[in-house]
Amino acid sequence: MTTATVRIPEQTSIGIRENELIEELTSELRANVEEEVTEGGSPARLLRLLMPDGSRQVLKLQVEMPGAVDGHDLESFRVKLRQIDKIRADAPALREVYTDKLREFHGHDWSAYTMPYYPNEDIAASIRGEDPRVEEFFDRFDVTMTALAERGWSLEESRSEPGQISEIHADRLTRRFWLLEKHLPSQYTSQERLVVNGVPCRHPLEIAKLLSERPELTRHVDATRLHFPAHGDLNTRNVLITGERDGRPTVRIIDPRGTLQPWDIVYDWGKVLFSLTVWDAGLREGFQIDTAGDPSSPEVSVHQRGGLYPGYRTAAQRLVGAIAQHAHLAPLVADDPGWRSRLLLGHGFHLLAEAACRLSDIKKRASSAGDVDLSPIELASGHYLLGVLFLENAVAQLEDRGEIDPVSHLALLDL
Ligand SMILES: Nc1ncnc2c1ncn2[C@@H]1O[C@H](COP(=O)(O)OP(=O)(O)OP(=O)(O)O)[C@@H](O)[C@H]1O
Ligand SMILES: [Mg+2]
Repeated sequence: MTTATVRIPEQTSIGIRENELIEELTSELRANVEEEVTEGGSPARLLRLLMPDGSRQVLKLQVEMPGAVDGHDLESFRVKLRQIDKIRADAPALREVYTDKLREFHGHDWSAYTMPYYPNEDIAASIRGEDPRVEEFFDRFDVTMTALAERGWSLEESRSEPGQISEIHADRLTRRFWLLEKHLPSQYTSQERLVVNGVPCRHPLEIAKLLSERPELTRHVDATRLHFPAHGDLNTRNVLITGERDGRPTVRIIDPRGTLQPWDIVYDWGKVLFSLTVWDAGLREGFQIDTAGDPSSPEVSVHQRGGLYPGYRTAAQRLVGAIAQHAHLAPLVADDPGWRSRLLLGHGFHLLAEAACRLSDIKKRASSAGDVDLSPIELASGHYLLGVLFLENAVAQLEDRGEIDPVSHLALLDL
């Protein structure tokens, strides 16, 4: 009992295989596919299902994909399921704000699960339009962060050894760089210097090398404490606002990273920031990239098409201050003096990591301009170039002053 409304993203063998599996699973569940959900940031397929009893569920399917970057592969997808189980078991107070998981399905080269469908808008919806409601965003942020902090992150605290930044971020960049070299316009990755939005920037591999060769640049910025792994991929589309109760927003948090180990919460805050500065508007609108008529010029300007949404800019520029003053977040980093710099440095690395993810994403996505296919190369280039810009400034500030000032760093959004 299935309908034929599933859109084939591309006539690739994986797309065809996915559609076969979707047919099989929906018929086993006796469900009708109502809609394909294209809001996500990964190659997973998501479908909203109408169940025989009239309720709605979401089916999420991941087929093994050769060339998928780590974090977007089948193995990480399977660890996500274990992380949801862990959170529901070890942090039971999070259950009412966290995604439920209903059934799991596994084949040798694919896995899938179902969860209830939560009618929602994402946490950043209130700051997208002409008339952004920034206070409402921070109200939603407060409810989400309070729940994660009180009922999740604070359940476990362990000491952390220095070296995390170089290990997690710089190594990942170096490991994924071949993918960028292979697909991006070669002048972005082959030239020693790029001038992005008027700022001369070092090559990202030079920066990664510098950070691994000079550990003193980041030793005081590294995490001193790790916490219970309550999420790990806290982009704004993973925070669903489902309504209101007693005048306060209600929230469902979905799609954790797929990690079972103690976690640096500042990494998650960096993901919120990266959603606001570049990622979410970039995925919706695409990027306008100009090289002043000369495609081989090292000078390039890059912005989201139509510019960053004004509400996102304001929220991004207020975010670090809001965390510092937050009654439940500030105590988690009270003995972690480098957290601000780490958040901003991590933000730059998130942008470059996302560039590689875009290249391993074959999913057709809807833009706000209509149902058009935003080129993965354009999305990857936008993230890469802005990553180069933010990383340059972050590392230059570490070299000059030993820390990164949020105000001058985020003023890069005004260039
Ligand atoms: N249970 C749900 N109820 C309502 N909407 C959902 C649900 N699950 C997912 N969505 C919508 O689909 C989008 C993508 O889902 P999800 O975040 O699970 O996948 P993803 O980001 O593509 O994948 P991943 O991060 O696992 O690689 C969400 O941002 C949300 O808009
Ligand atoms: Mg997601």
